[in-house]
Amino acid sequence: MIAPNPFTPQSGWEPKIFGGRNQEQELFKANLTEAIKVRPSHLVVLGEWGAGKTSLLKQFRRMSQEQGFPAAYCAMTRFTPKNTPLDAIHLIAEEMLMGFPKAETSQKNLAELFSRKKSLSNAQVQFTKFLLELWKVMDAKLAAVLLDDIQNLSEISNTIDVLRAVLSSDDIIKETRFLFILSSTPSGWSSFIDKHDPVGRFFRKRLAVDNLKEGDVQATIDMTLKGTGVVFEEAVRKNIFEYTLGHPYEVQLLASHLYDHQIEGVVSGAAWDNALNNTLKELGRDYFNNLFSKASDRERDLLEILAEERRPVTIKEFTTMMIVGKRAKKFPIANIKNFLYRLEEKGLVKRSEKAGFCIPDRMFVEFINSQARGE
Ligand SMILES: Nc1ncnc2c1ncn2[C@@H]1O[C@H](COP(=O)(O)OP(=O)(O)OP(=O)(O)O)[C@@H](O)[C@H]1O
Ligand SMILES: [Mg+2]
Repeated sequence: MIAPNPFTPQSGWEPKIFGGRNQEQELFKANLTEAIKVRPSHLVVLGEWGAGKTSLLKQFRRMSQEQGFPAAYCAMTRFTPKNTPLDAIHLIAEEMLMGFPKAETSQKNLAELFSRKKSLSNAQVQFTKFLLELWKVMDAKLAAVLLDDIQNLSEISNTIDVLRAVLSSDDIIKETRFLFILSSTPSGWSSFIDKHDPVGRFFRKRLAVDNLKEGDVQATIDMTLKGTGVVFEEAVRKNIFEYTLGHPYEVQLLASHLYDHQIEGVVSGAAWDNALNNTLKELGRDYFNNLFSKASDRERDLLEILAEERRPVTIKEFTTMMIVGKRAKKFPIANIKNFLYRLEEKGLVKRSEKAGFCIPDRMFVEFINSQARGE
C-alpha cells in the first residue's frame, strides 16, 4: 500500500522530517544555557519567504520545552495603521497566556492588566506589569516567547521599540527570565532598525535561515519517504537539489508533486517534467508572478536573457547582445547598468564582482523560461 503524500508544501506546515539546521540548533541551545546562567540575549531569526522561519521557531519551542522551559509561540498577524502597539502587545500577551500551561490558572487576572483605552505610551507600562505578574505565577527557570513574522508589525513599527524598552527595563531584567525569539523577513527587520535607532543594538543576536545543504535535502527526502512504499530514483533525487538549491518550500513542493507521480511505488525520470511544471505553476501563483511583476518591461527583457542563458552575464555582454545576434533589438543600451542595479535592489538578480549578473533562484529561472514558452 502506498501511504498518503508525506510532504508538507504549505507555509507554516511543519515538515514531517525537520532537516539540517544543526548549527542553528546548537546556537539556540547555547542561547538557552546563557539565558539561565547570565541573562537572556534575545534572538532575531531572519529569512525570506518559505525559508523555514516558522518551522525553526517551532523546533526552538520543542527544544526549550524539552529542557523544562515553557515556551509560547505567537504568529503576528498583519496590523494596519489603525491599530496601535497596544493591540499587538495585547495579542502577544494573550498568546503567552495560552502557551504557558502554568499561567492558565490566573489567566483572568492577568488579562485584566490590559486596558485598550489607555494611551499609546501605556503599552510599555502595561506589558511590563503583565510580564512581572506572569513571571510570579510561572514557576520556571526560564520561559521562551517566539514571535513569528514580526514584519507584519511594520505599520505599527514602534511596537518593536516598546518591546525593546520593556525588555531592557531594570525590573524585567532583575525579576524575570523571558527569552524572546523574533522572526522577520530581512527587509522588514532593516526597516525597524532604520526607524527606531536603539532596536538594532538591543536585538543584537541574529540568525539567518538559509537554504538547506545538499546532504540535508537528500537525508530529509529519504527519511520523509521511509515507510511510504515510494522511492525516488537517484537521478530524481539529484535533480531536486539542483533545481531548488535546498530552498525548503521549493523542496517540499517539488517532492510532493513528484510523489504524486509514482508508478508502482517508483518515481522515475519520466515524472520529472510534469512534476516540475505543476511546481512552477504553484510557485507562480504563490510568489513568482508577484516577483516578476516588480520588473518593468525593459527589466523583464534583461531577466529573460538571464533566464535563457542560465549563467551570469556581464553588462558588456548584455550590450553586445542588444546590438548584434539573435537578440538584437531597439533597447536603451546606455541604461542597461541602471536596469540591472534596479533589478538587484528588488532582489531579482544578484551581482558578483567578476562574473556579472545572475538570477539566484533556479526555479525562478525555470519559471521565466516557461512563461516565455507560453506555458
Ligand atoms: N528544516 C526543514 N526541513 C524540511 N522542511 C522544512 C524545514 N523548514 C521548513 N521546511 C518546509 O518548508 C516550507 C516552508 O517552511 P516555513 O513555513 O517554516 O517557512 P517560513 O520562512 O516561515 O515561510 P513563510 O515566508 O511562508 O512564513 C514548509 O513546507 C516546511 O514544511
Ligand atoms: Mg512562516
